[in-house]
Amino acid sequence: MVASPSRTETAAAAETYGNYIAGEWRPAASGATMENRSPADRDELVGHFAASGREDVEAAIAAADEAFRTWRLTSPIARANFLHKAANILEARIPDVGRELTREEGKTLKEGIGETTRAVQILRYFAGEAQQPSGEHYPSANPQTLLYTVREPLGVVAIITPWNFPIAIPAWKIAPALAFGNTVVFKPASLTPLTAVRLVEALAEAGLPAGVLNLVTGSAAEVGDLLTNDPRVVAISFTGSNAVGAELRQTAAKRGAKLQLELGGKNPAIVLADADLDHALGQVVAGAMMSTGQKCTATSRAIVDRRIADRFTDMLAERIGSLKVGNPLQADVQIGPLIDEPAAERVASEVAAASQAGASLLVGGDRLGGDLGRGAFVAPALLGEVAADSRLGQEELFGPVLGVIPVDGLDEAIAVANGVRFGLSASLFTRDLGRALAFAQQIEAGVVHVNSETAGAEPQVPFGGMKGSSSYSREQGKAARDFFTQSKTVYIDPPPAQA
Ligand code: UN1
Repeated sequence: MVASPSRTETAAAAETYGNYIAGEWRPAASGATMENRSPADRDELVGHFAASGREDVEAAIAAADEAFRTWRLTSPIARANFLHKAANILEARIPDVGRELTREEGKTLKEGIGETTRAVQILRYFAGEAQQPSGEHYPSANPQTLLYTVREPLGVVAIITPWNFPIAIPAWKIAPALAFGNTVVFKPASLTPLTAVRLVEALAEAGLPAGVLNLVTGSAAEVGDLLTNDPRVVAISFTGSNAVGAELRQTAAKRGAKLQLELGGKNPAIVLADADLDHALGQVVAGAMMSTGQKCTATSRAIVDRRIADRFTDMLAERIGSLKVGNPLQADVQIGPLIDEPAAERVASEVAAASQAGASLLVGGDRLGGDLGRGAFVAPALLGEVAADSRLGQEELFGPVLGVIPVDGLDEAIAVANGVRFGLSASLFTRDLGRALAFAQQIEAGVVHVNSETAGAEPQVPFGGMKGSSSYSREQGKAARDFFTQSKTVYIDPPPAQA
């Protein structure tokens, strides 16, 4: 356990953690707390967290608003130093924080540690990015005029993040927001508040001035609307469901807030007849099943050339059927639970419905019992002969479920791949360079892979989707500066010469 200044009391079974507002860890003004339990075992209490309400949100926004006045004028070099320090602090805690992430979220220990390591890399990347040029010098019609642009911070930004990457996604939003001079109110998913606390602790201990970063935990219903409707919050960066994204579009449009959305995906992996099938198998299964399929970048459709569809489907069934499902803290476990009981029930019933609707259920899909009955476990599922226009072929399930759609060649594969409302990531497996180029050009996806899985996002490149997956803005890489800053154009003329 990391020694935590965020603790506000010690209970017998689990710690209680507060909000971080105006440079202080404090309980919710009402004193209310919410419980967080491990998805692998409902008997395991992870902690108690502030169940925030109006007063807490108000205090956090006021603190961020106040801090912005001075933070915006600090040097980007100084801001970079905070991020470097936070990266070092978090790096020293990777084993602990990664383990807590796994307990709280349910992805495997390897993934929990991997994601925490990724958060450290993201902090470092944006420390570097803060030091990059932030404007351009232009010629002017007047030869004496100094004419340039500079990117300036926006103000108070709301950062609202999902439970499935509870440290990487907050890091990739918070780090650029701070690096470019904004102040932040951070509302993490109510299912993963502990990991959020750990990230904020690292940044707070790095010495960020009070109010620059504020954490408010609680339910979306209590906290979300208050935060996103406040006129002092000038920008909102959200990753999560399309349903919430649709509401945020309205909220932001109504009051003119800047908005960035990263939403769902129905990501295809196209496997052509000339592909290296063993390689494709490993990548498609990883894309579909790692993190229990709970990534917006997960592969949920294997679009396979009919000539190899039976063979590849058999290979998939064997591999998926042999994945070891269990407590994600155990080293040999490959697939952990879903995030909670309702998610597990939903996924199991969607698989049953898909099979009733005509797809053939080849492996998995049922709830697991025994010791695993205390957790949100569903056996990873493969369905064959999925119709492209069926519910399973169209809608995001957000679970360990892969559907195989057989097609005749690349053109049909691309048409099927594009025939959904999403467009986040897509993969093609082939040895043919011409087909790879055609795919890269014609596929409607913001992130395109040839011969690698649909999931994954390196911090130095833009990340985001097309169509219903995003809001035309991109995160990470140089794109982060576009969202978290605004441009100012400056004309400076010398005063007239004195007589
Ligand atoms: C990844 O594929 O590693 O919520 C990142 C998600 C995405 C991030 C995916 N926004 O799953």
